[in-house]
Amino acid sequence: MKESIFDHIIHGGDYNPDQWIDTPEIWDEDMRLMNLAHVNSATVGIFAWGMLEPEEGVYNFEWMDKLLDMLHKNGKDVILATPSGARPNWLAQKYPEVLRVEESGIRNEYGVRHNHCLTSPIYREKVRSINRLLAERYKDHPAVKMWHISNEYCGECHCELCQEAFREWLKKEYHNSLDELNFKWWNGFWSHQVTDWSQINSPKFRGENHVSAMKLAWKRFVSESHISFFENEIAPLKEITPNIPITTNFMKMYDGINYQDFAKKLDLVSWDNYPAWDKGNNENEALDTAFVHDAFRTMGGGKPFFMMESTPSLVNWHDVNKLPRPNRQALSAIQAVAHGADSVQYFQWRKSRGGHEKFHGAVVDHCGHENTRVFKEVSTLGENLEKLSNVVGEHCNSKVAIICDWENGWAVKSFCGYNNLQRDYYHECTKWYATFWKKGISVDIIAMDDDYSKYDLVIAPFLYMLKEGTISRIESYVKNGGNFLATYLSGIVDKDDLCFLGGFPGNELKDVFGIWVEETDSLPEGMKNVVEYKGKEYDAINFCDILHSKGADVLATYKQDFYSETPAVTENNYGKGKAYYTAFANKGDFFEDFSNSLINEHNIAPDTDIKAEDGISIRKRGNTIFVMNFADTEKELVLDKEYINLITNEKISGKVTLSVCEYLVIE
Ligand code: GAL
Repeated sequence: MKESIFDHIIHGGDYNPDQWIDTPEIWDEDMRLMNLAHVNSATVGIFAWGMLEPEEGVYNFEWMDKLLDMLHKNGKDVILATPSGARPNWLAQKYPEVLRVEESGIRNEYGVRHNHCLTSPIYREKVRSINRLLAERYKDHPAVKMWHISNEYCGECHCELCQEAFREWLKKEYHNSLDELNFKWWNGFWSHQVTDWSQINSPKFRGENHVSAMKLAWKRFVSESHISFFENEIAPLKEITPNIPITTNFMKMYDGINYQDFAKKLDLVSWDNYPAWDKGNNENEALDTAFVHDAFRTMGGGKPFFMMESTPSLVNWHDVNKLPRPNRQALSAIQAVAHGADSVQYFQWRKSRGGHEKFHGAVVDHCGHENTRVFKEVSTLGENLEKLSNVVGEHCNSKVAIICDWENGWAVKSFCGYNNLQRDYYHECTKWYATFWKKGISVDIIAMDDDYSKYDLVIAPFLYMLKEGTISRIESYVKNGGNFLATYLSGIVDKDDLCFLGGFPGNELKDVFGIWVEETDSLPEGMKNVVEYKGKEYDAINFCDILHSKGADVLATYKQDFYSETPAVTENNYGKGKAYYTAFANKGDFFEDFSNSLINEHNIAPDTDIKAEDGISIRKRGNTIFVMNFADTEKELVLDKEYINLITNEKISGKVTLSVCEYLVIE
């Protein structure tokens, strides 16, 4: 299936010529260099509010007019940003309420960026009005192809306006009933009954921070505040430019906003990709990044997404900013396209001369010319991307899904009990993802309330919290022939962190899985149990559920401690499908072997028949196959038939060796 806004891969990035307003020759030089670098797009105006409105109500759009015309004349698409991510000094000085109040209760002074209240009516109004002016002025500009809303929405504000908004949000959530809230928050515990809405404040270190249901409510409120801030921002844009698509750049698996909800509001999902290459295990970094690409692609309903930012060389915000080795960033860019991106974009086009990010990688360095390793790599990549237009708009088809649900992530983090140190939910999901990634099997990363019916296999690691409707969704999926795997500590609480009564996993899930989990053992670092599965022993670490089969087949048992010989892995036939339960955490070797058993049992074929050594990742998108070497040594693969190398346009078959960071794109 094909679906796309552009007919070519977007290659470009953040461009801030407003920092070079007094040197027009640099603007001219940028056009020459962009052409040389095969750059076809520029994202402009992200932090330009101070230039667009130097004083309240005094506007200066002429430089932007000139810039857009110049980019258009040079054949570049423009992604036009709204500037709410950083406000001018005058605005904060005149309206202090726009500045954020931290958890300490102290209002921040002016400074940095993203430092704004999400509720402030004044800030929302100011943002709407600058956005309206941008939309009115550029609605018919032929270069403008997309809106880039603000920048990396993040953080939270604890000011009085936000406290009041939180209380209002709670009233809606709990039907204006304090009895309901007190019940759902189990406020009889420690005498925390709320008798007036005004007693509720945001969770704080020095205040209420032991009511996990309240912490979850605050997370939901903050997330929805970001989304409503966004809706406020886009209102004038949707009115004036209804045909220009809208995106905002997300940050990896940032947990402050429910991206799975937010994504539903976007015309296209985009994210900023900054892996820590060449600083440790590159294969793990590649696996991790692949997972995130798949998560964002899935959030956009499977449509292509944008890699809105990446660095063409190093960053400046690691403790130590190692240079990635030659061609690493090109490989990283190809990985994004392989997983469904229709863009390769950089932060940033040209290094700023001063300011906080002057040592951050850029396509054009302070030397100002094209004779650099980084510039040459970017141009070669740009040239290669031009040969891959076929892939634009192509979806990826996945028969396997992993549930990695934002709200469950919040819940897993916030409860107190069992093993309080090992709660890396997202990492647990990537451990299950690893086998499929290594085998070249496409996986979608879904939320618990997404549709499961199109998948042959759904894996739900550590699905501790179940939102309303999830139990029946799992039940009917399995009943109708689906295969569902849940792991330890799944089905424990509802959306308000209230435990299910009557045994775990909650309610009907005991029948679906054919088990009852009676206790959970937690193992401190260094301690383990052992599980035997198909004659092989595996370490059980961190968490071990102790369970009874109520009809499920026992596939593996523990071998140590007082629960030796009790079930550790079960399989239950339910309706036309199967429900599996793996009761323990593991470093990954068991997950790999068990996933392989499921792959064989359910005939889940890799997306291609190419055989490759470990360290090579293979991805298919449409008819195009991407083969990428993420290992630190050269690796071999054997092509199953003759292909065309889309970069060289030559035929290729048989045994192929890929050097470090080398990739092949074939059809
Ligand atoms: C991103 C941000 C950019 C730039 C970049 C540096 O998170 O959106 O504006 O700061 O980091 O890596």
